[in-house]
Amino acid sequence: MKNDWGDIRKNVLGLAGFFALVAGALLAGGCAGERAETAGNIRVGVTCYDESDTFISELLDCFREELAEEAEGRAEIAVAVRDAAGSQRVQDDQVAELIEEGCRILLVNLVDRADPSEIIDLARESDVPIIFFNREPVAEDMLQWDRLYYVGADARQSGVMQGELAADVILSDPAIDRNRDGRIQYVVLEGEPGHQDAIIRTESAVDTLKSSGIELEKLSWRNANWNRAQAQNRMAQMIGQYRTQIELVLANNDDMALGAVDAYGKTNYTEANIPVFFGIDGTEVGLEAVIEGTLRATVYNDKEGQAEAMAKLVLALATGQGMDELEFEKEQYIYLPYYKVTRENAEEFQAKGADS
Ligand code: GAL
Repeated sequence: MKNDWGDIRKNVLGLAGFFALVAGALLAGGCAGERAETAGNIRVGVTCYDESDTFISELLDCFREELAEEAEGRAEIAVAVRDAAGSQRVQDDQVAELIEEGCRILLVNLVDRADPSEIIDLARESDVPIIFFNREPVAEDMLQWDRLYYVGADARQSGVMQGELAADVILSDPAIDRNRDGRIQYVVLEGEPGHQDAIIRTESAVDTLKSSGIELEKLSWRNANWNRAQAQNRMAQMIGQYRTQIELVLANNDDMALGAVDAYGKTNYTEANIPVFFGIDGTEVGLEAVIEGTLRATVYNDKEGQAEAMAKLVLALATGQGMDELEFEKEQYIYLPYYKVTRENAEEFQAKGADS
């Protein structure tokens, strides 16, 4: 579906799929296909892989706020956000439309991180720079053009932190090894196959636990595509198979860790037969669960930091000023650090979300 920028302006009142961001004033006039002429009037197009993903929707909210802040007094910005709903073909079409509608900068959360070529070709033909975010293209694709950027975080670091958090809990509480066999029986809930944050998080969490001297026994694992309901279903299957043997659940994100908790909620197991759960992200519900103790810990995926870097980069590309304030690795990448979250500091992270 094609929307013109009149629709976008209406969407500031809340129509789905689009929002306009007011920095100074909204873009004046303009219809589909017309390019914004002045450096001050900037049209930015965003397309995300799936807006129903909890972390992505929280990240987008932060981005809207950060961009408004960055733009204040510097530029008038209008933003269109599209949801590719899991289809790379849909996302390719969205990029073509956004460029046609006059977007001068694109932010792309790829559906298939191994398939950005069509998007890169379209952007290069119109000289529209792309900021990829959260789903990291493979390195060779990033070399296709020098106006490609990536903002995200280092998957390995999040896995190492999850492993360290789990090791601390296990080493300080012998009761977690419920059958007292000197090993921790565990299962893994993994994100989408092929995503940098799935396999790398799992491997580095497990390696970190092992190098902390903990003996592990992997009972099973399932993909649940970052999704709470899928994780509940996959966890129910694993509970069906292993009954009370599971002592530890490592999930690649909070939604899946919470799906695992939900699955136990449907059993009649008592506390004594329920494993410990660890997530990653520190979403609103994730932090709440850490405070309540349902998740033992999580790792904060710094959406405020990522959104701020994305917004600063947008402004730098649009105005030609401020590029040197950004900390790039290999000239194209900005990685924000993760943070460990336990019951002791979870409220600080809730406050961070509330402040932004
Ligand atoms: C990860 C995040 C997941 C999911 C995924 C989508 O960084 O931890 O919860 O949002 O990105 O690409």
